Amino acid sequence: MKNFIYDIPTRVLFGNNQVPNVGIEVKKHASKILLLYGKNSIKKSGLYDEVIKYLNKENIEVVELSGVDPNPRIETVRTGADLCRKHNLELVLAVGGGSTIDCAKAIAAQAKYHGDIWKDIYVEKKYENLKEALPVASILTLAATGSEMNGSSVISNMSENLKLGMGNYILRPVFSILDPTYTFSVNKYQTAAGVVDIMSHIFEQYFSPDKKGFLQSRIMEGLLKTVIHYGPIAFENPNDYEARANIMWASSLALNGLTSLGKESTDWATHQMEHELSAKYDITHGIGLGILTPYWMEYVLDKENVHRFVDYANNVWGIFGEDDLKVAQKVIAKTREFFNSLEVPSTLVEVGIDSSKFEEMALGAVKNGAIGCMKKLGYKDVLEIYTMAL
Ligand code: NZQ
Ligand code: ZN
Repeated sequence: MKNFIYDIPTRVLFGNNQVPNVGIEVKKHASKILLLYGKNSIKKSGLYDEVIKYLNKENIEVVELSGVDPNPRIETVRTGADLCRKHNLELVLAVGGGSTIDCAKAIAAQAKYHGDIWKDIYVEKKYENLKEALPVASILTLAATGSEMNGSSVISNMSENLKLGMGNYILRPVFSILDPTYTFSVNKYQTAAGVVDIMSHIFEQYFSPDKKGFLQSRIMEGLLKTVIHYGPIAFENPNDYEARANIMWASSLALNGLTSLGKESTDWATHQMEHELSAKYDITHGIGLGILTPYWMEYVLDKENVHRFVDYANNVWGIFGEDDLKVAQKVIAKTREFFNSLEVPSTLVEVGIDSSKFEEMALGAVKNGAIGCMKKLGYKDVLEIYTMAL
């Protein structure tokens, strides 16, 4: 196992009735804040009123910014940063899903940064320039991205047809409130997309050709089994607390370093390819991943890495057999079947994507060099995977 430092500063308040703590938690860091949220889901669920009530109780001054889009836009980041500067705000509180939290991180960074973070950090990756940011906190309403416990932020710039991510430890939320009851209102489509996203984060870390990372693999198998067990339950019974709670905590654990630290390598090719789809077609991240993942698995599978697929088949799905390659093919089919059972489509055509931008997207996916570690994928490989998914 490789050396690592595991140090997560995010204080997690998990479970029913944790929202009343929001004022007390904010007060530890700030007295004037930006409250950031999406369209209207938090007003519909009553969460907005609760948050305001408990912030008022602690005399926290609140400036609001709403309307964060799924696939959050750089324009919202700029508006939010201007508000923070204008009103001398001291913390950004995101109430919503991954898009709102990612947007909050970008605002927190831009508020303290003299240049343009889109150009310098997201595009040019001059990470060393980003030295400070306002503290970020979150109240999570959709289990999917893990943004509530990590330092990553993915932002879209539609005028440049780009969706780019960045990561910095200083952007990890100082606290995150995870109350599963506020995910009861997540519809079937977003529930399925969230489940696929969580599974994909695990796949990206689980599927590496080396044989190391035994402990990490067993933790990931537990997370996969949890999400595969509870995903369909939450899909059918949105108010099932245990299902929502297990999925919510799995989303955080899948992408907070627990499962990757100490491993030799992780893949992330499918995410790179999916971000190109969302950038060009503004599709839902988890749905894009659900379409691409089984094709990616079929494409990268070979004799060198088949052992990972056999582990996945044996330990997650209970699929066994004499012939390793056949076991691998069976588990890939099983994965696709599981996604389909959550009404996630299997082809790009079903989400309105044709082949007209495949070359452009493949170039975009590999613009910083070959991607992935199960198999290094270059331009032609990515093009082939998009074509298989058509
Ligand atoms: O805008 P509102 O009204 O809040 O509606 C949202 C939005 O339409 C709705 N929603 C959220 N909570 C709800 C709810 N509807 C009913 N009840 C609730 N409790 O769901 C829709 C989607 O929300 P969004 O925040 O976009 O979803 P998600 O959490 O899946 O975030 C996706 C974004 O995160 C990025 C993705 O690329 C995408 O841009 N990612 C961020 C990562 C990270 N920071 O580590 C990693 C991921 O791989 C991913 O790339
Ligand atoms: Zn993801």
